[in-house]
Amino acid sequence: MRTQVGIVGAGPAGLMLSHLLHLEGVGSVVLEARSRDHVERRVRAGVLEQGSVDLLVENGVGDRLNREGAVHQGINLQFDGERHRVPMTELTGRTITIYGQQEVVKDLVAARLAAGADIRFEVSDVRLDGLAADEPVIRFRHRGRAEEVRCDFVAGCDGFHGVCRDAVPAGVLRAYERGYPFAWLGVLARAAPAIDELVYCNHPAGFALYSLRSPEISRLYLQVRPDEDLAGWPDRRIWDELHRRLETGDGWVVNEGPVLEKGVTPMRSVVVEPMQWRRLYLAGDAVHIVPPTGAKGMNLALADVRLLGQGFAAWYAHRGTDLLDDYSRTALRRVWRAQHFSWWMTSMLHRFAEDDPYQERLQLSQLRYVVSSRAYATSLAENYVGLPTV
Ligand code: FAD
Ligand code: PHB
Repeated sequence: MRTQVGIVGAGPAGLMLSHLLHLEGVGSVVLEARSRDHVERRVRAGVLEQGSVDLLVENGVGDRLNREGAVHQGINLQFDGERHRVPMTELTGRTITIYGQQEVVKDLVAARLAAGADIRFEVSDVRLDGLAADEPVIRFRHRGRAEEVRCDFVAGCDGFHGVCRDAVPAGVLRAYERGYPFAWLGVLARAAPAIDELVYCNHPAGFALYSLRSPEISRLYLQVRPDEDLAGWPDRRIWDELHRRLETGDGWVVNEGPVLEKGVTPMRSVVVEPMQWRRLYLAGDAVHIVPPTGAKGMNLALADVRLLGQGFAAWYAHRGTDLLDDYSRTALRRVWRAQHFSWWMTSMLHRFAEDDPYQERLQLSQLRYVVSSRAYATSLAENYVGLPTV
C-alpha cells in the first residue's frame, strides 16, 4: 500500500491531520491500535480554546460542536472557602467551549469515513522502517495479516505511549520533564451540574475541579496520591470528598448522581525536542504532555497538526520546505507557553506535601493576587483561552 502521509494514531491529532490533508488534496492512511468504539468512548478532555473551535468550524467539522458545545465566558477560582470569578471574555474578548474530546473524535471519524478515508482500527505491532534512508515504511498487523504502508512522510500522532518517538535513533531527541507528587481521580456522573462555569478549587485536603459535559452530565476531579488505587474509592467516598472540598458552607451543594465512568490520571509535564527527525513528524501527546490543570493537551494537539497540515500542503503544492523545516521550532513556542501555564496552574492549586504551611500561604497569596489584579487575571485568562500566536 502507498500513500502520501502515513499517520499513526486516531486521536484528535491524527484524525484532524488526516482531515486537513484531505481538504488540501493530500492522501493519508490512519493506523490506530484500538477499536473505533474505544476511541469514540474514551473520556478525556473537555475544554476547547477558541482557536481550536475556529479550526474545527472553519474546516467543516464544527456543526455539532456549534449546536451542542457550551460557550463559557469565565472560570472560578476557589480558595480559603471563597469563590472568585475570572471574567475571561471581559478580559480577553475570547471564549472557551465545553465539548468532550470523544465528541471531537466522533465528528472527525464520521467526516473522514464519509469522505472515503482509509482508517485502520485495531492494528498491532506498528513499526517504522526506512526513516534514515528517507523512504519511510510503516509495517503493522491487521486482521491477522502483516501489512505495510509506504509513504513520503510519517506523522507520529500516537500519544505518549506510542511507538513513533522511539523510532528516532538514541541521542537525537532530548526530553525535558517534571513529575508531580499526585494524580487526578476523575468521575463522569449523570448529575445536573450545580455550576454554570468551571470551578478550580485549592483546598487543604487537595485540589478539586468541578466541570461538566452537558446540562445532565457532570465531570469532577479530585487530587489523589500518585499511586492511588481506584478500589479504595467507592462512589460514596468520592462524593463525600467532593462535598468537603467544593462546598463553602453557604448552602450551595454538589449534585450527586450515578457514576458513569471513573479513572485515575497521573500528572506529568514532558516536552521532547525536536518534534521532527528526517521524514517523521511528531504531534500532540506523542511529543509533549501537560498536567490537565491548564486544559491544554487537546488544544496543543490540534495546534500542532494545524501547522503540520500547512507544512505538508506547501510541500505537495510547490515542494515548499520552509513550513516543514520550521515546524518544530514554531510549534515548540506554543508548546512551551502551555507547559509553563499548565505547571503554573498546577503549582498554584494543588497540595504538594502533607505539611508545608509556607507553600500553602504562598499559594493563597498568589490566588488572592490573581483575583484582585486585573493585570494578573488577564494573564491567566489569555493563557487559558489560548494565545493566538506566541
Ligand atoms: P491521543 O488522544 O492519546 O491519541 C493517540 C492515539 O494513538 C490513540 O487513539 C492511541 O490508541 C493510538 N496509539 C497509541 N499507540 C499506538 C500504536 N503503537 N499504533 C497505533 N496507534 C496507537 N486536554 C485538553 O486540552 N483539555 C482538557 O480539559 C484535558 N483534560 C484531560 C483530562 C484527562 C483525564 C486526560 C487523561 C487528558 C486530558 N487532556 C486535556 C489531554 C488530552 O486528552 C490529550 O492531550 C489529547 O488526547 C492528545 O491528543 P493526541 O491525538 O495527541 O493523542
Ligand atoms: C474536563 O472537563 O474534563 C476538564 C476541564 C478543565 C480541565 C481539565 C479537564 O483543566
